[in-house]
Amino acid sequence: MNSSAPSFSEQILAAEAAATTLATAQREASSDLAKAAAAQGRHYPQIIIEAADLLRRLGEPEAALDLMGEGVELDGPTAPFQQAYSRHCREAGDLDGARQWLRGSMLRARPNAGMALALCEIELGRGDQAAADEALELAIQLRWIDAPALRYAADRLTAAGRGDLAAIPLMMMHLRAKGDLSLRRELAPLLQAHAPFERVPEAVRSRLGLADPATLADVAVPAGSDSGHQFTNGWFQGAAKSVWDDLVPQIDPTRILEIGSFEGASSCYLIDTLATRKDIEIHCIDTWEGGVENAADGWSPANMSDVEQRFLDNIRLSVDRAPHKVDVHLHKGRSDLALCKLLAEGRQGYFDFIYVDGSHQAPDVLCDAVLAFRLLRENGVIAFDDYLWKEPLPYGVDPIRCPKPAIDAFTNLYCRKISIISAPLYQLYVRKLCE
Ligand SMILES: C[S@@+](CC[C@H](N)C(=O)[O-])C[C@H]1O[C@@H](n2cnc3c(N)ncnc32)[C@H](O)[C@@H]1O
Repeated sequence: MNSSAPSFSEQILAAEAAATTLATAQREASSDLAKAAAAQGRHYPQIIIEAADLLRRLGEPEAALDLMGEGVELDGPTAPFQQAYSRHCREAGDLDGARQWLRGSMLRARPNAGMALALCEIELGRGDQAAADEALELAIQLRWIDAPALRYAADRLTAAGRGDLAAIPLMMMHLRAKGDLSLRRELAPLLQAHAPFERVPEAVRSRLGLADPATLADVAVPAGSDSGHQFTNGWFQGAAKSVWDDLVPQIDPTRILEIGSFEGASSCYLIDTLATRKDIEIHCIDTWEGGVENAADGWSPANMSDVEQRFLDNIRLSVDRAPHKVDVHLHKGRSDLALCKLLAEGRQGYFDFIYVDGSHQAPDVLCDAVLAFRLLRENGVIAFDDYLWKEPLPYGVDPIRCPKPAIDAFTNLYCRKISIISAPLYQLYVRKLCE
């Protein structure tokens, strides 16, 4: 054992003396005391880091850098020390040094998303786009979720002309704040331009829904926002409107039933389109409790009492400006009960058009489909939304937490009583041929 090495108790006393000196240096804003503290506490990386930070704040960046350099040689740099050294190098404009020390710390400690993001920025500063992409992908894989960091990265990547990569942090922000219209205005064209995001690893693509056509619908900026309605999503606009523009005038329904109304985008479309020419009757069923996806920990959280209020305001707006009478019936509650009640009231074969867009769980959709069929008149049409929708779950896709198996089961079992209307897939349209 080296007899000159300080004993454990001497080390503790030295650390305590260094910490006291450093505290005084910070209080008195003294660079001399900062240097003295670093000398006293030279075996303690945290003392050197804080002393260097103080020197930098006091306008002595070179002394700060020297201190960090000496600290590295003393005892083998810890990961936090290397990170701090990287920060000092970066602030001094030495991007190669910043990169070297940050990568060192990432090798020594388990890297986190903040480290990967910092590395991405350093690589961008060095002009190494490929390395920046790699670091950004690492940040995403490390579940980097801090909103200011995401915003910062999106801006940096946009400024660097990498809209494809900028879409990724924006998408991550969007998943947390779906109502943010300005974010969607920014994101929608990037998704349009860069889909299917071939350069993004498959795991990231599927987690963010970048490969899913529903994503575009979700992000699309709803036209309603310019028409006085308050819609916080573009589901209807993206997934349905272009087909409905052709289909609805052909069906020309007068009695309409909607299962799942949310903020009323689809109902308002039907009122705005049909009540310009004739009186209509529209029934809206919704719990206004949201589906599992709208829960606080779901992938699309929503405050459902706000949603319900927006539904009421939106419908009122459309009804008030419709030239013809609109007879609106609200059925607040679960669709299975509401549909049974409509049947019990004698409305079998009553409706011309039924839109099934409530729960997305296969057993619920099957129940909605069977009861809707009973309520539909011959030649009437059922539109199923989200035929191809898949819930982005952390463990992948659950085959029965989506409408498709239920719609497939219904169309198979009712194949002698229905025909499928040819239309671009995402929604599925079914005409009733007979009882
Ligand atoms: C996708 S949103 C409907 C979107 C709406 N059609 C549009 O175009 O904007 C689904 C709605 O179904 C409702 N819902 C979910 N499960 C339900 C159930 N079992 N019964 C009634 N409504 C339900 C939710 O509260 C939610 O508002």
